[in-house]
Amino acid sequence: MRVAIPAETEANETRVAATPDSIKKLIALGATVVVQSGAGMSSGITDPDYVAAGATLAGTAAEALADADLVLKVRRPAATELSDYKRGASVIATMDPYGHEEAVAAMADAGVNAFAMEFMPRITRAQVMDVLSSQANLAGYRAVIDGAAEYGRALPMMMTAAGTVPAARIFIMGVGVAGLQAIATARRLGAIVTATDVRPATKEQVESLGAKFVAVEDDEFKQAETAGGYAKEMSADYKAKQAALVSAHIAKQDIVITTALIPGRPAPRLISADMVHSMRAGSVIIDLAVERGGNCELALPGETVITDNGVRIVGHLNVPGRLAATASSLYARNLLAFVETLVDKDTKGLAPKWDDELVKATLLTRDGAVVHPNFLPK
Ligand code: NAI
Repeated sequence: MRVAIPAETEANETRVAATPDSIKKLIALGATVVVQSGAGMSSGITDPDYVAAGATLAGTAAEALADADLVLKVRRPAATELSDYKRGASVIATMDPYGHEEAVAAMADAGVNAFAMEFMPRITRAQVMDVLSSQANLAGYRAVIDGAAEYGRALPMMMTAAGTVPAARIFIMGVGVAGLQAIATARRLGAIVTATDVRPATKEQVESLGAKFVAVEDDEFKQAETAGGYAKEMSADYKAKQAALVSAHIAKQDIVITTALIPGRPAPRLISADMVHSMRAGSVIIDLAVERGGNCELALPGETVITDNGVRIVGHLNVPGRLAATASSLYARNLLAFVETLVDKDTKGLAPKWDDELVKATLLTRDGAVVHPNFLPK
């Protein structure tokens, strides 16, 4: 089994799909591994690091991909790369397939078996393969660090001879994996932390991290969680009540971090322009949902907006990529764990069990056709 690690081609992508550690384990599974020269540089992994782990280097993507049975990537292969894949090769990546049906079809046409890591079921067996969690956790941490860096004051209370510095107030909106890590990080830095979510289960989680829960806890809230553990789109009535509560609260915050998402839908709008204008000069909003439309009305993807009233609204793209070395190391381990389930221990070759629930959930294309139920041609 020949495994290829090409360099990522998207401009913003600093991560890489394999580390020296994951490569050693791939080789122990019976693989030969070829890495495109330079693929790990933005994650702090040099070519000699890869070679020391047992990989060989390829000068170009085409050379790395030639004859590869399995390709590991962070992002979906671009249409232009697919011509370098051999037919029948498998590729595992975060595929971001919604709204990119043509790209899914292109992978089918190229005859590659494409696995989307973000569709991994959130069951116990697959926790170690959960890229959404591994990356969201880091994004939540980084959001607080970015917020602290933009904020012109200290976060913890400090009592000094020159006077007392008050603790900063940080409000976390959306308490999934990213939000929980943001709460924990903000608490460690000494801020006064509050948080909100529409799923009732989050109240106890917020409180157990030492933060205060702020939400409209009506009958709709009590039923806001789907069987899968995700949030639902809330009614217009609930959203109005939530906005009233939140707007009074936001005016008093120094840093607001938004992480709210609803699977398969645009990010919910939680902070209006009016709310931003109610905040003090020097306050900061970090919108982690900016790539999915944004939780803050004024956030712009990839930009830091400074409003007339002096509020900074940060819309970084690829926040896990801002911690590339850590993000790559966790992502590579997620991928390795999945690859281990795809390899036949005796033949040491790739032998996906097509009826395994992890394979069925993640497989987008196979043998020249789109096979995932959510993307079948209409
Ligand atoms: P996500 O990234 O889909 O959404 C982030 C948060 O935004 C969620 O907590 C959601 O309730 C919240 N949200 C949505 N609309 C909102 C609104 N209008 N106002 C305020 N908040 C809003 O969520 P993530 O991080 O993927 O977690 C979803 C669930 O999956 C959680 O219950 C988490 O504990 C669970 N989970 C389970 C795992 C497992 O069993 N292996 C692994 C990871 C997460």
